Amino acid sequence: MTDLQTNILETERLSLRRLTPDDLDALFALYRDPEIRRYFPEGTQTYEETKEELEWIIEVYYGRYGYGLWATIYKETGEFIGRCGLLPWTIEERQEVEVAYLLDKRYWGQGLATEAAAAIRDYAFAHLPISRLICLVDPENEASRRVAQKIGMTLEKEMILDGTPALVFAMDRV
Ligand SMILES: CC(C)(COP(=O)(O)OP(=O)(O)OC[C@H]1O[C@@H](n2cnc3c(N)ncnc32)[C@H](O)[C@@H]1OP(=O)(O)O)[C@@H](O)C(=O)NCCC(=O)NCCS
Repeated sequence: MTDLQTNILETERLSLRRLTPDDLDALFALYRDPEIRRYFPEGTQTYEETKEELEWIIEVYYGRYGYGLWATIYKETGEFIGRCGLLPWTIEERQEVEVAYLLDKRYWGQGLATEAAAAIRDYAFAHLPISRLICLVDPENEASRRVAQKIGMTLEKEMILDGTPALVFAMDRV
């Protein structure tokens, strides 16, 4: 394992590690899927857009912030089943960190996003100098709302973010 593949955290069923350029095809398989990307304002992504996002995650998020979206691996099979992690935001001039999650639809409904998000929450409060975390959720994305609530967040407000309605869930350091 190279430095670029540093393991970030483990849960009972999942292992989260840094993304590498080799993850492009697996990430694109998720980002091209209209059902998985349904609640993302920009919708599905092309191979080139996925490549650009992956490069941004590695160079800017990991390089500048030391965190970002991480490859989410199903430990039992070693399969790449999503990307979950932390994203920096500036919202109304306030620095925020979002817990973000996206999984392969074949793995939905098994509590895996909640398992990942809870571990990411704990990791963030243990390792980052932050006092709160947020989730930004499309109002119609019931599953995502539930994950935010299940890790201890409450609805703070609804806002328009980049022209799209978004619910802001938030929690203070626990
Ligand atoms: C959001 C997402 C990560 C949830 O993953 P998941 O592993 O299925 O979530 P969990 O199994 O941990 O379920 C969390 C809760 O949501 C509920 N839930 C799951 N899918 C749901 C759906 N389609 N509608 C309503 N509730 C749903 C579950 O029942 C559970 O709540 P409960 O314990 O009270 O029953 C997954 O649907 C996904 O990857 N979606 C596409 C990407 C996305 O929209 N990410 C969020 C962007 S903000």
